[in-house]
Amino acid sequence: MTYRFDQKIVIVTGAGAGIGRSIAHHFGAAGATVIVNDIHAENAALVAAEICTANGLALAVPADAGNSVQVNALFDRVLETYGTVDVLVNNAGLTNTERHILESDAAWWDEILASNLHSVYYFSVRAAQVMARKRRGVIINMSSGGATRAHRGNAAYDAAKGGIEAFTRALALDLGPYGVRVCGIVPGSIDSKGMSADMKAARGETIPILRVGEVSEISRPVLFLASDDASYISGSFLTVDGGLLSQQRSAQVDIFPISKFPAWN
Ligand SMILES: NC(=O)c1ccc[n+]([C@@H]2O[C@H](COP(=O)([O-])OP(=O)(O)OC[C@H]3O[C@@H](n4cnc5c(N)ncnc54)[C@H](O)[C@@H]3O)[C@@H](O)[C@H]2O)c1
Repeated sequence: MTYRFDQKIVIVTGAGAGIGRSIAHHFGAAGATVIVNDIHAENAALVAAEICTANGLALAVPADAGNSVQVNALFDRVLETYGTVDVLVNNAGLTNTERHILESDAAWWDEILASNLHSVYYFSVRAAQVMARKRRGVIINMSSGGATRAHRGNAAYDAAKGGIEAFTRALALDLGPYGVRVCGIVPGSIDSKGMSADMKAARGETIPILRVGEVSEISRPVLFLASDDASYISGSFLTVDGGLLSQQRSAQVDIFPISKFPAWN
């Protein structure tokens, strides 16, 4: 592990599974005290226990990140217990959100916006108030390629992610003078739920480096952004997608397909 976060209090939202779980584990292994948040209490408890079993420090604090009352209660508990927060990773979000816009309704929109965007505001404001007072802290927000390139049938998710990117920039401006950095990650196609081998292979073929990403390939850049090696990075996003967003067409339909590439032995 390159970076150390000893004596640091790190909150990871949506850390009961997938990318968030991996981020929590990486901070735990780097010496941080990890606040493991998830809406599913049993998953949060499990991940906190895993970190402690690996000789790390962790506390499970379940809460619906999209509910301001619950987020405030979480912060009250963290501040009573530890007195501060050093790093916040806003990772929580609903991810199986597809619905065609013609068949959508306000409940669908509201639920996704609450979990995926309002959550970022609720957590960031409470963390920022603590960090600004001590003139130090880092907030890292999890975006998606959907912030700038649309997914089919996923308008609410994409709107939330676009909002996260705009909010990240605005927050970076408001908090910069207080020594607080705000930045984020744009993950590509990451195997966070255990894809079948067939799906992994099919998805991989559409990505320039020819494979989907692993959760640790998001966690390591998160630790970098949280570290002092990223001390001049604020208001921007690190794209971690194997080249996905940089391509106009996937290899299957490109005018210069991979089958034409030189063998180069
Ligand atoms: N996996 C990918 O390919 C990918 C790509 C781009 C962006 N992302 C983003 O990365 C983040 C993590 O994605 P993932 O693939 O690990 O998803 P996941 O569904 O595996 O895990 C998300 C976690 O967030 C929790 N969660 C959802 N709503 C919550 C709420 N309101 N309060 C607290 N916890 C809540 C879930 O219970 C779950 O444990 C998300 O923000 C997602 O949009 C993922």
